[in-house]
Amino acid sequence: MPLNHSPPSQIDRSGRLCHLMTLEGLPRALVESLLDRARFHRQSEHAMPSDHAAAVALLFCEPSTRTRASFELAAWRLGHHVTNLTPNLSSLAKSETIGETAATLEAMGFRFLVLRHGDPESAQALIHPLDRPLHCISGGTGQWSHPSQGLLDLFTVHEHFTDLGALSVAIIGDIRHSRVARSTFTALRLFGVRDIRLCAPPDLEPEAGEFPEAELLPLEDALRGTRLVIALRLQRERIPEGLRLDLDHYREAYGLTRERLKICDPRVRIMHPGPVMPDMELARDLIASPISLIREQVRNGVPVRMAIFETLAG
Ligand code: CP
Repeated sequence: MPLNHSPPSQIDRSGRLCHLMTLEGLPRALVESLLDRARFHRQSEHAMPSDHAAAVALLFCEPSTRTRASFELAAWRLGHHVTNLTPNLSSLAKSETIGETAATLEAMGFRFLVLRHGDPESAQALIHPLDRPLHCISGGTGQWSHPSQGLLDLFTVHEHFTDLGALSVAIIGDIRHSRVARSTFTALRLFGVRDIRLCAPPDLEPEAGEFPEAELLPLEDALRGTRLVIALRLQRERIPEGLRLDLDHYREAYGLTRERLKICDPRVRIMHPGPVMPDMELARDLIASPISLIREQVRNGVPVRMAIFETLAG
């Protein structure tokens, strides 16, 4: 479940970002400078080794392709050394806690820990103390937060839409279980996107108040005239066993097709954090179509994650 209390501080007294576990509470200027740096990396064809090569540990306790591979590539391009820890072959399998694992890596001299974990409470505890030598980065935390995805989505949106204040966005699908929806919503709001519409099956709607001032609408109303549609993955691994999801009904009622998108602005673009279930959330022919930004989202993950390492390293 998402955390109910206010976002943790990840910024020290001098304004330096020490950890990145959520986008909530980050100042716009800090995110702007991070995106500027990502733009710089996106434009450069070659690796840009940092002056201060560091040790980076990747610990993914849930499956991942995009996030894990792009954090690794980003670290490699900056000249960092990467250690991939396999949870069931690490001491987590012998009941060591995430906190003790982080302390152990810190004692060895690791400078960054990228963690994908299902439990927001134990992931969030890593932020303390704020000035610890190990910078902790969420690679996706339960259904609470996915800050690097939120940033790369914002980066991608920025590349295509100049006036974010005039942009209309529809977020469609399993919003209840989506950390991407929460982080991308936070990022878009921070940059002035006002018209954000939500559409989800009744069992997959967010809790009241989780997405301030965003309306939950039937699919047609959410899509009508919109410039950008963000489709979400059905998070089947997070859907409680008692809740029997009828996939055929989901596809019929919420699956996005060319026909359905005719109601959007004719210049509509579609995004999806991946992995996509073809012909479920999105028709197969839309995934790599000219209106799709999905491959671009993936591509932008590398420069954005390079910028995250640099920003945390100060
Ligand atoms: N978008 C995303 O988090 O994808 P992966 O699960 O492949 O990392």
